[in-house]
Amino acid sequence: LTVDWDAGHYDTGGYEHYLLKEISEQPETITRTMSGRLDERFHVAHLGGLNMDARETRSFRRVKIIGCGSAYYSGQIGAQLIEELARIPADAEPASEFRYRNPVVDPDTLYVAISQSGETYDTLAAVQELKRKGGRVIGIVNAVGSAIAREVDGGIYLHAGPEVSVASTKAFTSTSLAFALLALHLGRVRDLSPADGRRVVEGLRRLPGQIEEILTQGDKIAELAQKYAKHPSMMFVGRVRGYPVAREGAQKLKEISYVHAEAYPASELKHGPLALIGPDMPTVAIVPDDELLDKNLTTLGEIRARGGQVLMVGHREPDAKLADDVIVIPKNEIELDPILLTIPLQLLAYHAAVALGRDVDKPRNLAKSVTVE
Ligand code: G6P
Repeated sequence: LTVDWDAGHYDTGGYEHYLLKEISEQPETITRTMSGRLDERFHVAHLGGLNMDARETRSFRRVKIIGCGSAYYSGQIGAQLIEELARIPADAEPASEFRYRNPVVDPDTLYVAISQSGETYDTLAAVQELKRKGGRVIGIVNAVGSAIAREVDGGIYLHAGPEVSVASTKAFTSTSLAFALLALHLGRVRDLSPADGRRVVEGLRRLPGQIEEILTQGDKIAELAQKYAKHPSMMFVGRVRGYPVAREGAQKLKEISYVHAEAYPASELKHGPLALIGPDMPTVAIVPDDELLDKNLTTLGEIRARGGQVLMVGHREPDAKLADDVIVIPKNEIELDPILLTIPLQLLAYHAAVALGRDVDKPRNLAKSVTVE
């Protein structure tokens, strides 16, 4: 059972669809998420809404993140940011799985519930289960005063503004950014150096302009979407930081264009899904310029050797033999790259849905906010 959104009082601001409006708003929405929260003197993030002093912030030994759908995928990006910047073991799990498996609730774990609407029933029920067992839970939520926001001990509001289109875009990038702030915060009360703190703060400040640059490639991505949307099925691959990006890219394509899409860690292709690769199944490969670049390029060679087309999203043009098409995006600090790598995939899904004549803002069988089990 689901409930429908009411777009009543919002307009599309001159865009053809809410989704395109919300994708295009991201330079401003992520600016709002970080506004007033970055400290240039100590290179830290101010997150007063967490209601936690430094001693408590230092006390956690694990971070467990829960959410549904795109919120869960942004939680995977968040878990990596926390492990990389704060060196605290962290992982993400769908809230619905978490709540039904009688989880061990540990007093040394910080639990983070993610929800754009703040009303998703499975996430709310998981938070209530955690609270009942004495867990310390914070929220990363967009809708102010929503059920999840009221239930948690503290949190980070996204300030991304209302998200109307069923498929989440600006809330996804703002949530990922909020995790960068949380990771910086957890890191700087531990062992993240001032120099690394400064590197991350400066990287965060560059993001809005870089998103703006990616958005200027809209026409090119629309052409690519027309070409690739002709196929019945697409593979999305990435490694480590690129893997949650691949999952979110596949999710966006499925949700709004109804093109079948699978996401795999690039390293797992050879353990099964490579059998699917051929002229009918192109691959979208997330290939950032990081320490895994060479491994990712090898994967592209393996796909092309089996007749698969490759659309690469990354920071530089590879050898022409390795990709049919490339979307080049600006480089940031490696930990922040996932936020930028997501934007072309949102545009790809949007333009694929338009090319296929889908009901972009209100895809069949889905609802914006799933407030029942
Ligand atoms: C629904 C929406 C998704 C969203 C998920 C979680 O399934 O269609 O786009 O990611 O709910 O929503 P939430 O409001 O909790 O972030």
